[in-house]
Amino acid sequence: MRRVTARNSDIEKAAGVLRAGGLVAFPTETVYGLGANAEDSAAVARVFQVKARPTSHPLIVHIGGAEQLGEWVEDVPATARLLAERFWPGPLTLVLRRGGRVSLDATGGLETVAVRVPDHPVALALLSAFGGGVAAPSANRFGSVSPTTANHVRVELGDAVDFVLDGGPCQVGVESTIVDATGEVPSVLRPGGVTREDLEAALGRRIAVHSTSRVRVPGQHPSHYAPRARVVLVEPEKVIAEAELAQEVGHQVGVLLPPSFSGAQVKAHAVVAVPGSMAAYARGLYGFLRELDQRGCDLIVASLPVEEGLGLAIANRLRRAAGPRPRE
Ligand code: TXA
Ligand code: MG
Repeated sequence: MRRVTARNSDIEKAAGVLRAGGLVAFPTETVYGLGANAEDSAAVARVFQVKARPTSHPLIVHIGGAEQLGEWVEDVPATARLLAERFWPGPLTLVLRRGGRVSLDATGGLETVAVRVPDHPVALALLSAFGGGVAAPSANRFGSVSPTTANHVRVELGDAVDFVLDGGPCQVGVESTIVDATGEVPSVLRPGGVTREDLEAALGRRIAVHSTSRVRVPGQHPSHYAPRARVVLVEPEKVIAEAELAQEVGHQVGVLLPPSFSGAQVKAHAVVAVPGSMAAYARGLYGFLRELDQRGCDLIVASLPVEEGLGLAIANRLRRAAGPRPRE
């Protein structure tokens, strides 16, 4: 697929918006981010407001290159250096001790900061034109599905964003892997676009995965990455029966049909055949969930992929999407 590359005039305009304290939605290889100048408390505060995100939930600071890391963190332990050199630009976020430059608003008051260098030509051009760090969460409302196209952002956030940079559809499709690299032994706080296997190969040892972050957020709910429709997870061989039963009792059922059953006829409202390749599944996942919402489904039946490679991140997002919802 050919990547849309934003015009230079758009990059300049977006950089100007950031300098003026505004908000820019921009493409990365994982998902679209909602960016603000990481050193501007007022701009960062607006990001939380637009997303309706609790201010204690920290943002990721995006920088233009690994060589800038030292400007943003207190110190760079050898393991962090190794991971940055191996995986940046790329879908890896490193949590390190906060340097003085980062606004405490961006870190939710924490003494650590999450930093990454995105692997997308438009994001890198923006970071280079802007010159500073861009604090950016995914450009969606808190708790909902992340955007993987510029149009997803426009539909969800509309005028609340000052400028949307369109860089085409995101190639990875799930968020970055977050690694706590503050201590001697790194651990994964959120599985994502860099696989556990790749991290282990780079480190030469096993790495623990804590799929819920150590950060305790008041009022944080298990539900996240969630479409409007309720999500139910069952074993792959039970997906069709479960979907048809729910449809019979009056639900508008959307199905994420596992690859082993592709081509099967399912009596449901909408069916999306899940790609067999984990890279294609990750790339499509959030778009599939949005599509099923759009087609009016109130229930989505899905199963978890094998939890290796990108399957670990996909399973993590599906579990969170199926988590208990806050009361409406
Ligand atoms: O791929 C991505 O990471 C995308 C793109 C836009 O870069 N960004 C993204 O941001 O997913 P967001 O805000 O939706 O998720 C950031 C996660 C949050 O779960 C937050 O708790 C965690 O990063 N995080 C941020 N700072 C942290 C810190 N200092 N310690 C632990 N976790 C942190
Ligand atoms: Mg998010």
